Amino acid sequence: MEIIESGQAAGEFVLRSGKRRVLVPTMGALHKGHLELIRLARTAAGPDGGVAVSIFVNPLQFEPGSDFDRYPRPQSVDEELCRSAGVDALFRPGAQEMYFHDQSVTVEEHALANTLCGKSRPGHFRGVCTVVTKLFHLVVPHAAVFGEKDFQQLAIIRRMVRDLNFPIEIIGAPTVREADGLACSSRNQYLSEDERRQAPVLRAALLAAREAAKTSPRAADSLVNEVRARISSAPLAQIDYVELVDADNLQPEKTVTDNSLFAVAVRFGHTRLIDNIRLA
Ligand code: PAJ
Repeated sequence: MEIIESGQAAGEFVLRSGKRRVLVPTMGALHKGHLELIRLARTAAGPDGGVAVSIFVNPLQFEPGSDFDRYPRPQSVDEELCRSAGVDALFRPGAQEMYFHDQSVTVEEHALANTLCGKSRPGHFRGVCTVVTKLFHLVVPHAAVFGEKDFQQLAIIRRMVRDLNFPIEIIGAPTVREADGLACSSRNQYLSEDERRQAPVLRAALLAAREAAKTSPRAADSLVNEVRARISSAPLAQIDYVELVDADNLQPEKTVTDNSLFAVAVRFGHTRLIDNIRLA
């Protein structure tokens, strides 16, 4: 596995490798979800192609007062995981490498980024779009894999690629979960024992909503209220949002449709967890 730590080395790598490249952008602290993305990238790359993983904790997408400083950075464990997953190139730039001190150009999406997580994390998706653009320019992938756990992020990246004509195929990957249903996340390790025990309530509430929507077609309000009540039954859960939206435009829906997506964000102490489910 080749380890690339500067933009210049990335450029040289791209020039040298004539292969089809599939990129998996991450912020590290790799878990089963990331490994599944790498597996899908390998399939998408084909027998002659290569898989590149980027690990960069992107300061631009952390809003002030969030967990940038304490975000886990287990560098050698991550490196080993990439190696044993058969990754061809690990791109691991430093912060100075990625941003000039007077950087003044960003990339912003203006429709999908204003709802759901965009409301409680101002500037977050601008940071994501900017860093993903930079990673795309540095690694020049033919395709890139993103997880459906971050459904809004995936939708925004697809829109960015469409609107700005990036010649890159975006591949969505299903959410990987722990045995009790909790979506794998680098942030799960922040949870206390009690919080961890209660966190699967997100998945349980979303599954119950999907069942309820199947048996009797429902108004969004009553489903949202049921999900809120179920999540609130966990004493440590503080709801950020519970919303039924259209999966294409992420706008709130009044009734369940074939395209409905239920999305939730819930805080346990200082840890914010998100999850979602398609209702059809
Ligand atoms: P990070 O949170 O490290 O996630 C990297 C990728 O892994 C994202 O595409 C995310 O959706 C996916 N992922 C995370 N948990 C998953 C799970 N349980 N199942 C399936 N996929 C999962 O998302 C980011 O980093 C950053 O915003 C990034 C895109 C790298 C830009 O900085």
